[in-house]
Amino acid sequence: MLASEIAPFSKTGGLADVTSALAKHLTAAGHEVLTVTPLYGGIDREALGLSASTAGVATATLPGSAATVHFIDEPELYDRSTLYSADPDEHLRFIRLTRAAFELCRRLGFAPDILHCNDWHTAFGPLLLSAGYRADPLFAATRSVMSIHNIGYQGGFDARYAGDIGLDDLSKLHQDDLRAGHINALKHGILYADAITTVSPTYAREICTDEYGMGLQDILRARSSALTGILNGVDYDEWDPRHDRWLPIHYDAHTLGAKAELKRAFLARVGLPFRLGVPLAGVVSRLAEQKGIELLFDTLPPLLAQQRVQLAALGSGEARYEDFFTRLARDFPQSVSFQAGYDEARAHWIEAASDLFLMPSRYEPCGLNQMYSLRYGTVPIVRRTGGLADSVEHFDPATGRGTGIVFNDFDPAAMNWALQQALALHADQTAWHRLVQNGMAQDFSWTRQSARYVALYERLLGR
Ligand code: ADP
Ligand code: GLC
Repeated sequence: MLASEIAPFSKTGGLADVTSALAKHLTAAGHEVLTVTPLYGGIDREALGLSASTAGVATATLPGSAATVHFIDEPELYDRSTLYSADPDEHLRFIRLTRAAFELCRRLGFAPDILHCNDWHTAFGPLLLSAGYRADPLFAATRSVMSIHNIGYQGGFDARYAGDIGLDDLSKLHQDDLRAGHINALKHGILYADAITTVSPTYAREICTDEYGMGLQDILRARSSALTGILNGVDYDEWDPRHDRWLPIHYDAHTLGAKAELKRAFLARVGLPFRLGVPLAGVVSRLAEQKGIELLFDTLPPLLAQQRVQLAALGSGEARYEDFFTRLARDFPQSVSFQAGYDEARAHWIEAASDLFLMPSRYEPCGLNQMYSLRYGTVPIVRRTGGLADSVEHFDPATGRGTGIVFNDFDPAAMNWALQQALALHADQTAWHRLVQNGMAQDFSWTRQSARYVALYERLLGR
Protein backbone atom coordinates (compact mmCIF):
# COMPACT_ATOMS: atom_id res chain seq x y z
CA MET A 1 0.00 0.00 0.00
CA LEU A 2 1.57 3.24 -1.14
CA ALA A 3 0.21 6.36 0.48
CA SER A 4 1.27 9.97 0.81
CA GLU A 5 -0.79 10.23 4.02
CA ILE A 6 -1.78 7.78 6.71
CA ALA A 7 -3.55 8.66 9.95
CA PRO A 8 -2.54 9.22 12.69
CA PHE A 9 0.97 9.88 11.36
CA SER A 10 0.20 12.38 8.61
CA LYS A 11 -3.05 13.84 7.42
CA THR A 12 -4.45 16.69 5.38
CA GLY A 13 -7.75 15.05 4.50
CA GLY A 14 -9.75 11.88 4.05
CA LEU A 15 -7.00 10.03 2.19
CA ALA A 16 -5.18 9.59 5.50
CA ASP A 17 -8.25 8.13 7.19
CA VAL A 18 -8.89 5.77 4.31
CA THR A 19 -5.36 4.36 3.89
CA SER A 20 -5.13 3.84 7.62
CA ALA A 21 -8.50 2.14 7.99
CA LEU A 22 -7.99 -0.02 4.93
CA ALA A 23 -4.56 -1.22 6.09
CA LYS A 24 -6.00 -1.94 9.51
CA HIS A 25 -9.03 -3.87 8.25
CA LEU A 26 -7.12 -5.86 5.66
CA THR A 27 -4.63 -6.82 8.35
CA ALA A 28 -7.41 -7.84 10.70
CA ALA A 29 -8.81 -10.03 7.93
CA GLY A 30 -5.51 -11.91 7.80
CA HIS A 31 -3.71 -10.14 4.94
CA GLU A 32 -0.14 -8.99 5.21
CA VAL A 33 -0.19 -5.28 4.46
CA LEU A 34 2.97 -3.27 4.18
CA THR A 35 2.27 0.44 3.92
CA VAL A 36 4.96 2.74 2.58
CA THR A 37 4.75 6.47 3.31
CA PRO A 38 7.10 9.44 3.80
CA LEU A 39 8.71 10.21 7.12
CA TYR A 40 7.58 13.83 7.09
CA GLY A 41 9.49 16.21 9.32
CA GLY A 42 6.38 16.97 11.34
CA ILE A 43 5.75 13.38 12.46
CA ASP A 44 6.32 13.03 16.19
CA ARG A 45 8.43 9.88 16.11
CA GLU A 46 8.46 9.37 19.86
CA ALA A 47 4.78 9.97 20.53
CA LEU A 48 3.75 7.73 17.65
CA GLY A 49 6.14 4.93 18.50
CA LEU A 50 8.37 4.95 15.42
CA SER A 51 11.48 2.79 15.47
CA ALA A 52 14.90 4.27 14.75
CA SER A 53 15.65 4.30 11.00
CA THR A 54 17.66 1.49 9.49
CA ALA A 55 18.86 1.91 5.93
CA GLY A 56 16.62 4.94 5.54
CA VAL A 57 13.42 3.32 6.79
CA ALA A 58 11.65 3.67 10.14
CA THR A 59 8.69 1.51 11.10
CA ALA A 60 5.66 1.65 13.35
CA THR A 61 2.42 -0.23 13.72
CA LEU A 62 -0.93 1.42 13.31
CA PRO A 63 -2.46 2.08 16.72
CA GLY A 64 -4.71 -0.79 17.74
CA SER A 65 -3.52 -2.92 14.85
CA ALA A 66 -0.70 -5.19 13.78
CA ALA A 67 -0.45 -3.41 10.41
CA THR A 68 3.09 -2.18 9.77
CA VAL A 69 3.88 1.19 8.32
CA HIS A 70 7.28 1.83 6.73
CA PHE A 71 8.41 5.44 6.70
CA ILE A 72 10.89 6.49 4.07
CA ASP A 73 13.43 8.62 5.91
CA GLU A 74 14.84 11.11 3.44
CA PRO A 75 14.91 14.47 5.21
CA GLU A 76 15.94 16.38 2.10
CA LEU A 77 12.67 15.25 0.49
CA TYR A 78 10.21 15.09 3.34
CA ASP A 79 11.39 17.58 5.92
CA ARG A 80 9.32 20.55 4.70
CA SER A 81 6.87 22.81 6.49
CA THR A 82 3.81 21.04 5.03
CA LEU A 83 3.15 17.55 3.64
CA TYR A 84 2.73 18.92 0.14
CA SER A 85 4.71 21.75 -1.37
CA ALA A 86 4.89 23.91 -4.45
CA ASP A 87 8.62 23.25 -4.67
CA PRO A 88 10.11 22.34 -8.04
CA ASP A 89 10.92 18.81 -6.88
CA GLU A 90 7.36 18.01 -5.73
CA HIS A 91 6.97 15.26 -8.35
CA LEU A 92 10.32 13.80 -7.39
CA ARG A 93 9.44 13.59 -3.71
CA PHE A 94 6.70 11.09 -4.49
CA ILE A 95 8.41 9.27 -7.35
CA ARG A 96 11.16 8.57 -4.85
CA LEU A 97 8.54 7.27 -2.43
CA THR A 98 7.13 4.97 -5.09
CA ARG A 99 10.53 3.58 -6.03
CA ALA A 100 11.43 3.19 -2.38
CA ALA A 101 8.44 0.89 -1.96
CA PHE A 102 9.80 -1.50 -4.60
CA GLU A 103 13.28 -1.34 -3.13
CA LEU A 104 11.91 -2.04 0.33
CA CYS A 105 10.12 -5.15 -0.94
CA ARG A 106 13.42 -6.31 -2.38
CA ARG A 107 15.27 -5.72 0.84
CA LEU A 108 12.62 -7.59 2.83
CA GLY A 109 12.21 -10.32 0.21
CA PHE A 110 8.51 -9.42 0.23
CA ALA A 111 6.67 -10.46 -2.95
CA PRO A 112 3.44 -8.44 -2.99
CA ASP A 113 0.34 -9.89 -4.61
CA ILE A 114 -1.02 -6.39 -4.95
CA LEU A 115 0.59 -3.02 -5.38
CA HIS A 116 -2.08 -0.57 -4.25
CA CYS A 117 -1.34 3.03 -5.27
CA ASN A 118 -3.31 6.03 -4.04
CA ASP A 119 -3.74 9.32 -5.91
CA TRP A 120 -1.20 11.05 -8.14
CA HIS A 121 1.63 10.81 -5.65
CA THR A 122 2.17 7.12 -6.20
CA ALA A 123 0.53 6.84 -9.61
CA PHE A 124 3.76 5.85 -11.36
CA GLY A 125 3.69 2.57 -9.41
CA PRO A 126 1.83 0.58 -12.08
CA LEU A 127 4.11 1.85 -14.86
CA LEU A 128 7.30 1.26 -12.86
CA LEU A 129 6.01 -2.24 -12.22
CA SER A 130 5.14 -3.10 -15.80
CA ALA A 131 8.09 -1.36 -17.42
CA GLY A 132 10.81 -2.32 -14.97
CA TYR A 133 10.34 -4.13 -11.71
CA ARG A 134 8.28 -6.86 -13.35
CA ALA A 135 11.57 -8.36 -14.57
CA ASP A 136 12.42 -9.15 -10.95
CA PRO A 137 10.89 -12.54 -10.00
CA LEU A 138 9.76 -10.93 -6.76
CA PHE A 139 7.21 -8.89 -8.71
CA ALA A 140 6.44 -11.37 -11.49
CA ALA A 141 2.93 -12.03 -10.19
CA THR A 142 2.19 -8.61 -8.68
CA ARG A 143 -1.01 -6.89 -9.84
CA SER A 144 -1.54 -3.16 -9.52
CA VAL A 145 -4.49 -1.12 -8.28
CA MET A 146 -4.77 2.64 -8.76
CA SER A 147 -7.20 4.32 -6.38
CA ILE A 148 -8.39 7.79 -7.29
CA HIS A 149 -9.39 9.73 -4.20
CA ASN A 150 -9.61 13.04 -5.99
CA ILE A 151 -9.23 13.65 -9.71
CA GLY A 152 -8.72 17.36 -9.06
CA TYR A 153 -5.10 16.66 -8.16
CA GLN A 154 -3.19 14.99 -11.00
CA GLY A 155 0.47 15.63 -10.27
CA GLY A 156 1.48 17.54 -13.36
CA PHE A 157 5.09 18.52 -14.02
CA ASP A 158 7.35 19.72 -16.79
CA ALA A 159 8.50 17.07 -19.24
CA ARG A 160 12.09 18.17 -18.87
CA TYR A 161 11.99 16.24 -15.59
CA ALA A 162 10.88 13.03 -17.31
CA GLY A 163 14.18 11.42 -16.39
CA ASP A 164 13.18 11.69 -12.71
CA ILE A 165 10.67 8.86 -13.17
CA GLY A 166 13.56 6.48 -13.62
CA LEU A 167 12.39 4.60 -16.70
CA ASP A 168 14.91 3.06 -19.08
CA ASP A 169 13.13 4.54 -22.03
CA LEU A 170 10.40 7.11 -22.26
CA SER A 171 8.27 5.35 -24.86
CA LYS A 172 5.73 4.22 -22.27
CA LEU A 173 4.95 7.78 -21.23
CA HIS A 174 1.91 9.46 -22.74
CA GLN A 175 3.47 10.61 -25.99
CA ASP A 176 1.17 13.53 -26.84
CA ASP A 177 1.70 15.00 -23.40
CA LEU A 178 5.42 14.43 -23.61
CA ARG A 179 5.54 16.28 -26.91
CA ALA A 180 3.47 19.07 -25.39
CA GLY A 181 6.06 19.28 -22.64
CA HIS A 182 3.88 18.14 -19.80
CA ILE A 183 3.70 14.96 -17.72
CA ASN A 184 0.59 13.97 -15.77
CA ALA A 185 1.29 11.43 -13.02
CA LEU A 186 -2.29 10.30 -12.40
CA LYS A 187 -2.87 9.69 -16.10
CA HIS A 188 -0.13 7.06 -16.07
CA GLY A 189 -1.70 5.32 -13.11
CA ILE A 190 -4.97 5.14 -15.02
CA LEU A 191 -3.25 3.89 -18.16
CA TYR A 192 -1.16 1.16 -16.57
CA ALA A 193 -2.97 -0.13 -13.48
CA ASP A 194 -4.58 -3.56 -13.68
CA ALA A 195 -7.57 -2.11 -11.87
CA ILE A 196 -8.68 1.45 -11.19
CA THR A 197 -10.88 2.28 -8.27
CA THR A 198 -12.41 5.42 -6.97
CA VAL A 199 -14.07 6.03 -3.68
CA SER A 200 -17.77 5.90 -4.54
CA PRO A 201 -19.90 4.36 -7.31
CA THR A 202 -21.37 7.73 -8.29
CA TYR A 203 -17.94 9.34 -8.59
CA ALA A 204 -16.83 6.39 -10.75
CA ARG A 205 -19.55 7.36 -13.20
CA GLU A 206 -19.01 11.10 -12.84
CA ILE A 207 -15.28 11.08 -13.64
CA CYS A 208 -16.07 9.55 -17.02
CA THR A 209 -18.03 12.70 -17.94
CA ASP A 210 -16.77 15.99 -19.34
CA GLU A 211 -18.21 17.79 -16.35
CA TYR A 212 -16.26 15.90 -13.69
CA GLY A 213 -13.36 14.18 -15.47
CA MET A 214 -11.01 17.18 -15.29
CA GLY A 215 -9.45 16.23 -18.59
CA LEU A 216 -9.03 12.53 -17.80
CA GLN A 217 -12.55 11.50 -18.88
CA ASP A 218 -11.45 10.12 -22.23
CA ILE A 219 -8.82 7.75 -20.92
CA LEU A 220 -11.16 6.76 -18.08
CA ARG A 221 -13.89 5.97 -20.57
CA ALA A 222 -11.38 3.93 -22.55
CA ARG A 223 -10.55 1.98 -19.40
CA SER A 224 -14.06 1.87 -17.98
CA SER A 225 -14.11 -1.92 -17.80
CA ALA A 226 -11.22 -1.72 -15.30
CA LEU A 227 -12.85 1.05 -13.24
CA THR A 228 -14.99 0.44 -10.14
CA GLY A 229 -16.33 2.62 -7.38
CA ILE A 230 -16.00 1.36 -3.81
CA LEU A 231 -17.51 3.63 -1.20
CA ASN A 232 -15.17 4.50 1.66
CA GLY A 233 -16.00 3.23 5.09
CA VAL A 234 -15.88 4.85 8.48
CA ASP A 235 -13.37 3.89 11.10
CA TYR A 236 -15.85 3.59 13.96
CA ASP A 237 -12.98 3.00 16.40
CA GLU A 238 -12.16 6.65 15.82
CA TRP A 239 -15.53 8.13 14.92
CA ASP A 240 -18.33 6.95 17.17
CA PRO A 241 -19.98 9.06 19.90
CA ARG A 242 -20.27 5.93 22.06
CA HIS A 243 -16.53 5.94 22.76
CA ASP A 244 -14.98 8.96 21.00
CA ARG A 245 -11.72 9.57 22.89
CA TRP A 246 -11.84 13.30 22.22
CA LEU A 247 -15.15 13.72 24.05
CA PRO A 248 -15.64 13.85 27.83
CA ILE A 249 -19.05 12.17 27.72
CA HIS A 250 -20.55 9.70 25.30
CA TYR A 251 -23.92 8.97 23.76
CA ASP A 252 -25.87 6.81 21.39
CA ALA A 253 -29.29 6.93 19.74
CA HIS A 254 -31.00 6.35 23.11
CA THR A 255 -29.04 8.90 25.12
CA LEU A 256 -29.24 12.05 23.03
CA GLY A 257 -29.43 14.13 26.20
CA ALA A 258 -25.66 13.76 26.36
CA LYS A 259 -25.38 15.18 22.85
CA ALA A 260 -27.33 18.24 24.02
CA GLU A 261 -24.93 18.55 26.96
CA LEU A 262 -21.96 18.43 24.62
CA LYS A 263 -23.53 21.17 22.55
CA ARG A 264 -23.91 23.39 25.61
CA ALA A 265 -20.35 22.68 26.70
CA PHE A 266 -19.02 23.41 23.22
CA LEU A 267 -20.94 26.68 22.87
CA ALA A 268 -19.70 27.79 26.26
CA ARG A 269 -16.13 26.94 25.33
CA VAL A 270 -16.21 28.88 22.07
CA GLY A 271 -18.05 31.77 23.70
CA LEU A 272 -21.44 31.48 22.01
CA PRO A 273 -24.73 31.69 23.93
CA PHE A 274 -27.02 28.67 23.99
CA ARG A 275 -30.27 29.52 22.20
CA LEU A 276 -33.22 27.23 22.73
CA GLY A 277 -34.54 25.76 19.49
CA VAL A 278 -31.78 27.25 17.32
CA PRO A 279 -29.75 24.57 15.54
CA LEU A 280 -25.97 24.65 15.39
CA ALA A 281 -24.55 23.94 11.93
CA GLY A 282 -21.05 22.48 11.67
CA VAL A 283 -18.39 22.76 8.97
CA VAL A 284 -15.11 20.82 9.09
CA SER A 285 -13.32 21.09 5.81
CA ARG A 286 -10.31 21.69 3.72
CA LEU A 287 -11.24 25.10 2.37
CA ALA A 288 -10.74 24.31 -1.30
CA GLU A 289 -12.94 25.20 -4.25
CA GLN A 290 -14.14 21.59 -4.37
CA LYS A 291 -16.02 22.03 -1.11
CA GLY A 292 -18.59 24.51 -2.45
CA ILE A 293 -18.22 27.04 0.34
CA GLU A 294 -19.31 29.86 -1.98
CA LEU A 295 -22.84 28.50 -1.84
CA LEU A 296 -22.85 29.73 1.76
CA PHE A 297 -21.69 33.27 0.91
CA ASP A 298 -25.17 34.68 0.35
CA THR A 299 -27.33 32.05 1.99
CA LEU A 300 -25.93 31.94 5.54
CA PRO A 301 -25.72 35.63 6.49
CA PRO A 302 -29.49 36.28 6.36
CA LEU A 303 -30.19 33.22 8.51
CA LEU A 304 -27.53 34.31 10.98
CA ALA A 305 -28.93 37.83 11.02
CA GLN A 306 -32.36 36.42 11.87
CA GLN A 307 -30.77 34.24 14.58
CA ARG A 308 -32.27 31.13 13.02
CA VAL A 309 -29.01 29.18 13.04
CA GLN A 310 -25.60 29.20 14.71
CA LEU A 311 -22.40 28.09 13.02
CA ALA A 312 -19.25 26.30 14.16
CA ALA A 313 -16.65 26.15 11.41
CA LEU A 314 -13.17 24.66 11.33
CA GLY A 315 -10.94 24.61 8.31
CA SER A 316 -7.94 25.85 6.51
CA GLY A 317 -7.18 26.55 2.91
CA GLU A 318 -7.87 29.30 0.43
CA ALA A 319 -7.97 32.82 1.80
CA ARG A 320 -11.32 33.73 0.24
CA TYR A 321 -13.05 31.02 2.30
CA GLU A 322 -11.10 31.69 5.48
CA ASP A 323 -11.91 35.38 5.07
CA PHE A 324 -15.60 34.59 4.63
CA PHE A 325 -15.79 32.65 7.88
CA THR A 326 -13.65 35.21 9.69
CA ARG A 327 -16.05 37.94 8.54
CA LEU A 328 -19.06 35.93 9.65
CA ALA A 329 -17.55 35.48 13.10
CA ARG A 330 -16.91 39.23 13.30
CA ASP A 331 -20.36 40.22 12.00
CA PHE A 332 -22.27 37.67 14.10
CA PRO A 333 -20.19 37.19 17.26
CA GLN A 334 -23.15 35.64 19.11
CA SER A 335 -23.79 33.10 16.40
CA VAL A 336 -20.56 32.10 14.69
CA SER A 337 -17.36 30.49 15.84
CA PHE A 338 -14.59 29.94 13.31
CA GLN A 339 -11.23 28.36 13.88
CA ALA A 340 -8.74 28.51 11.06
CA GLY A 341 -6.30 25.63 10.94
CA TYR A 342 -6.26 21.93 11.53
CA ASP A 343 -7.50 20.56 14.86
CA GLU A 344 -8.41 16.92 15.34
CA ALA A 345 -10.08 17.43 18.73
CA ARG A 346 -12.17 20.32 17.43
CA ALA A 347 -13.29 18.24 14.43
CA HIS A 348 -14.71 15.59 16.78
CA TRP A 349 -16.34 18.21 18.98
CA ILE A 350 -18.06 19.86 16.05
CA GLU A 351 -19.39 16.51 14.82
CA ALA A 352 -20.82 15.79 18.25
CA ALA A 353 -22.09 19.24 19.23
CA SER A 354 -23.75 20.26 15.96
CA ASP A 355 -27.32 19.62 14.93
CA LEU A 356 -26.61 20.05 11.22
CA PHE A 357 -23.52 19.50 9.11
CA LEU A 358 -22.87 21.39 5.88
CA MET A 359 -21.20 19.76 2.85
CA PRO A 360 -22.36 21.63 -0.26
CA SER A 361 -19.53 20.23 -2.38
CA ARG A 362 -19.05 21.13 -6.01
CA TYR A 363 -17.72 17.60 -6.35
CA GLU A 364 -16.98 14.99 -3.69
CA PRO A 365 -15.27 11.70 -4.53
CA CYS A 366 -16.58 10.20 -1.31
CA GLY A 367 -16.50 12.52 1.67
CA LEU A 368 -16.19 11.19 5.17
CA ASN A 369 -17.67 13.88 7.37
CA GLN A 370 -21.22 13.28 6.14
CA MET A 371 -20.88 9.65 7.24
CA TYR A 372 -19.35 10.68 10.56
CA SER A 373 -22.23 13.13 10.99
CA LEU A 374 -24.82 10.39 10.51
CA ARG A 375 -23.30 8.37 13.33
CA TYR A 376 -23.16 11.44 15.58
CA GLY A 377 -26.85 12.25 15.08
CA THR A 378 -25.85 15.39 13.21
CA VAL A 379 -28.03 15.79 10.14
CA PRO A 380 -25.95 16.27 6.97
CA ILE A 381 -26.94 18.80 4.32
CA VAL A 382 -25.21 17.67 1.14
CA ARG A 383 -25.26 18.24 -2.57
CA ARG A 384 -26.19 15.21 -4.65
CA THR A 385 -22.74 14.40 -6.03
CA GLY A 386 -20.16 11.63 -5.68
CA GLY A 387 -20.07 9.82 -2.39
CA LEU A 388 -22.47 12.32 -0.83
CA ALA A 389 -25.16 11.01 -3.17
CA ASP A 390 -24.23 7.43 -2.25
CA SER A 391 -24.29 7.87 1.50
CA VAL A 392 -27.08 10.34 2.30
CA GLU A 393 -30.71 9.80 1.36
CA HIS A 394 -33.00 12.81 1.27
CA PHE A 395 -35.53 12.73 4.10
CA ASP A 396 -39.17 12.40 3.16
CA PRO A 397 -41.47 13.39 6.05
CA ALA A 398 -44.36 11.52 4.41
CA THR A 399 -42.66 8.14 4.65
CA GLY A 400 -40.22 8.88 7.46
CA ARG A 401 -37.41 7.57 5.28
CA GLY A 402 -34.10 9.27 4.67
CA THR A 403 -31.04 10.41 6.56
CA GLY A 404 -30.31 14.00 5.54
CA ILE A 405 -31.09 16.93 3.30
CA VAL A 406 -29.94 16.46 -0.28
CA PHE A 407 -30.03 19.17 -2.93
CA ASN A 408 -29.23 18.85 -6.60
CA ASP A 409 -28.02 22.02 -8.23
CA PHE A 410 -24.85 23.87 -7.53
CA ASP A 411 -26.49 27.23 -6.99
CA PRO A 412 -27.41 29.46 -4.04
CA ALA A 413 -31.14 28.94 -4.59
CA ALA A 414 -30.79 25.19 -4.14
CA MET A 415 -28.55 25.74 -1.12
CA ASN A 416 -31.10 28.07 0.37
CA TRP A 417 -33.87 25.54 -0.26
CA ALA A 418 -31.85 22.92 1.60
CA LEU A 419 -31.19 25.20 4.55
CA GLN A 420 -34.88 26.16 4.77
CA GLN A 421 -35.85 22.48 4.62
CA ALA A 422 -33.46 21.71 7.43
CA LEU A 423 -34.76 24.53 9.63
CA ALA A 424 -38.37 23.53 9.03
CA LEU A 425 -37.63 19.90 9.89
CA HIS A 426 -35.68 20.94 12.96
CA ALA A 427 -38.75 22.80 14.20
CA ASP A 428 -40.84 19.64 13.88
CA GLN A 429 -39.69 17.50 16.79
CA THR A 430 -41.23 14.25 15.59
CA ALA A 431 -39.80 14.49 12.10
CA TRP A 432 -36.42 15.59 13.44
CA HIS A 433 -36.26 12.70 15.87
CA ARG A 434 -37.02 10.24 13.05
CA LEU A 435 -34.38 11.82 10.81
CA VAL A 436 -31.69 11.70 13.49
CA GLN A 437 -32.54 8.11 14.39
CA ASN A 438 -32.41 7.03 10.75
CA GLY A 439 -28.93 8.51 10.39
CA MET A 440 -27.58 7.00 13.57
CA ALA A 441 -28.76 3.56 12.46
CA GLN A 442 -26.62 3.66 9.30
CA ASP A 443 -23.59 1.43 9.08
CA PHE A 444 -20.71 2.35 6.81
CA SER A 445 -18.19 0.13 8.52
CA TRP A 446 -14.90 -0.71 6.85
CA THR A 447 -15.43 -4.39 7.55
CA ARG A 448 -17.83 -4.52 4.64
CA GLN A 449 -16.02 -2.06 2.37
CA SER A 450 -12.57 -3.61 2.85
CA ALA A 451 -14.07 -6.95 1.80
CA ARG A 452 -14.88 -5.33 -1.55
CA TYR A 453 -11.21 -4.48 -2.02
CA VAL A 454 -10.27 -8.05 -1.15
CA ALA A 455 -12.74 -9.32 -3.74
CA LEU A 456 -11.16 -7.02 -6.32
CA TYR A 457 -7.62 -8.12 -5.42
CA GLU A 458 -8.66 -11.77 -5.71
CA ARG A 459 -10.26 -11.17 -9.07
CA LEU A 460 -7.02 -9.60 -10.31
CA LEU A 461 -5.05 -12.56 -9.04
CA GLY A 462 -7.40 -14.99 -10.76
CA ARG A 463 -8.44 -16.54 -7.47
P1 ADP B 1 -11.21 15.55 1.85
O1 ADP B 1 -10.37 14.33 1.88
O2 ADP B 1 -11.60 15.98 0.49
O3 ADP B 1 -10.62 16.66 2.64
P2 ADP B 1 -13.13 13.98 3.44
O4 ADP B 1 -14.49 14.32 3.88
O5 ADP B 1 -12.94 12.69 2.78
O6 ADP B 1 -12.62 15.20 2.55
O7 ADP B 1 -12.17 13.92 4.68
C1 ADP B 1 -11.80 15.01 5.44
C2 ADP B 1 -11.14 14.52 6.72
O8 ADP B 1 -10.26 15.52 7.18
C3 ADP B 1 -12.12 14.24 7.83
O9 ADP B 1 -11.61 13.25 8.68
C4 ADP B 1 -12.17 15.60 8.54
O10 ADP B 1 -12.59 15.49 9.87
C5 ADP B 1 -10.74 16.03 8.43
N1 ADP B 1 -10.51 17.46 8.43
C6 ADP B 1 -10.66 18.33 7.40
N2 ADP B 1 -10.34 19.57 7.76
C7 ADP B 1 -9.95 19.50 9.05
C8 ADP B 1 -9.48 20.46 10.01
N3 ADP B 1 -9.35 21.75 9.69
N4 ADP B 1 -9.18 20.02 11.25
C9 ADP B 1 -9.32 18.72 11.56
N5 ADP B 1 -9.76 17.77 10.72
C10 ADP B 1 -10.06 18.16 9.48
C1 GLC C 1 -10.36 12.88 -1.22
C2 GLC C 1 -11.77 13.32 -1.51
C3 GLC C 1 -12.78 12.85 -0.51
C4 GLC C 1 -12.53 11.42 -0.11
C5 GLC C 1 -11.10 11.25 0.36
C6 GLC C 1 -10.77 9.83 0.77
O1 GLC C 1 -9.55 13.80 -0.64
O2 GLC C 1 -11.85 14.72 -1.68
O3 GLC C 1 -14.07 12.99 -1.05
O4 GLC C 1 -13.41 11.03 0.91
O5 GLC C 1 -10.22 11.59 -0.66
O6 GLC C 1 -11.00 8.89 -0.23
